[in-house]
Amino acid sequence: MGLPKDFLWGGATAANQCEGGYQEGGRGLANVDLMPLGKDRYLVGTGQKKMFEFDGQYVYPAQEAVDMYHHYKEDIALFAQMGFKTYRLSIAWTRIFPNGDEDLPNESGLAFYEDMFRECKKYGIEPLVTINHFDCPMHLIKTYGGWRSRRMIDFYVKLAKTLFERYKGLVRYWLTFNEINMILHFPFVAAGLYFEEGEDPTQVKITAVHHELIASSLVTKLAHEIDPENRIGCMMAAGSYYPETCAPEDYWKAIGDNRESYMFIDVQSWGYYPNYALKWVESRGAIIPFEKNDKKILRENTVDFISFSYYSSRVSSANPDKGKQTESNIFASVVNPYLKSSDWGWMIDPLGLRITMNELYDRYRKPLFIVENGLGARDTIEEDGSIQDDYRIKYLKEHIQAMIDAVEQDGVELMGYTTWGCIDLISNGTGEIEKRYGFIYVDRDNQGNGTFRRIPKKSFYWYKKVIESNGEDLSIES
Ligand code: BG6
Repeated sequence: MGLPKDFLWGGATAANQCEGGYQEGGRGLANVDLMPLGKDRYLVGTGQKKMFEFDGQYVYPAQEAVDMYHHYKEDIALFAQMGFKTYRLSIAWTRIFPNGDEDLPNESGLAFYEDMFRECKKYGIEPLVTINHFDCPMHLIKTYGGWRSRRMIDFYVKLAKTLFERYKGLVRYWLTFNEINMILHFPFVAAGLYFEEGEDPTQVKITAVHHELIASSLVTKLAHEIDPENRIGCMMAAGSYYPETCAPEDYWKAIGDNRESYMFIDVQSWGYYPNYALKWVESRGAIIPFEKNDKKILRENTVDFISFSYYSSRVSSANPDKGKQTESNIFASVVNPYLKSSDWGWMIDPLGLRITMNELYDRYRKPLFIVENGLGARDTIEEDGSIQDDYRIKYLKEHIQAMIDAVEQDGVELMGYTTWGCIDLISNGTGEIEKRYGFIYVDRDNQGNGTFRRIPKKSFYWYKKVIESNGEDLSIES
């Protein structure tokens, strides 16, 4: 019993949310750099407000983020102190290809990540690399319209090929696209989509996601050819929808909402669009822009494992006016009266993680990997300089227990668990750093003040013990 001995414990970050250094080492400009702090962030992220250049009236937190670009050695050393077996990070596309369509990569960017991977290896930490975590070169957005263009497939494949060749032997776990289902909800961030007047946003999103699915399959094939040791995962923003009541209409609505999340992972895992997805597209008056060979490409190159983020379950109601709505990781949901919420209104549901794991494993029958889970909360520094984040420990303890139950009692195959934002970083949804997830506090506030000093929180020492005991000791010392 217990978790497998080689279970991959660790933490996760994304380049644009932690690196900063947005103009260093020849890096080009990306969509994620242009995501402002404040209320317009949502409009920009959903492709409703155009933000193709910096505008002096906004703050852009990704420009400096938590300056991991200059602190990565210190940060990886801290991860190693916690005993990480894996560290999930993403590549900033514009460090490797600043414009996205160059013939040759930027050596300085390649060297930067090589050094990060070597640093990880020094401590026996296995890198888990997201090739694309919400970033797209602005040049590709301005010139080709982001992922609505089929040309993007070639640019992305070139990026991935460059990475596979350069990091062969250093990296073996790869994720093609972070939260591919996010395209439907946050399309400028997820696929570089800004909608021009008169365009049908649904058609544009379907086109873009089809291109990403083809790109993902081609890259899966390439990864296996370049190094048979490579393991490729898809990545889904997960969290099952419950029906608000046992009324059949509510249950039916929940099935539909869940399918909207599964839809693209089904393609990556099964190798084809299921019938309900084809009907979903058709009923919206849209088409999937299939080209010759596309179906073959999808069929022959399915992923090796299913990775996902889980923060919360969600609730569906057939009655659009009924129930108070909450924003849960950009996915709308009716408030669940049985659950407590975080400071940002995200419902907290550890059993929901076990439910989600079971549903995913029943559906795909491939190993799972939880690559994001955690609590965004406000932390305070005590007079003695410590950070007593018992609320975060409680959240993680309960979720880890639910995860262990799914493995031990339900037989779910699970490769590993990486908490989100193992070091404080910029929130994707709100742009705040003060929505903190980390085991490591970073001295920086929403207005951009602070020294970037790193301070281990109480949860840092707790997680160290959890990893050391392979999940057997989850106890909290007071
Ligand atoms: C996931 C993303 O959606 O949730 C991350 O993959 C993101 O990039 C995380 O940061 C938490 O969301 P937020 O809005 O609290 O940053």
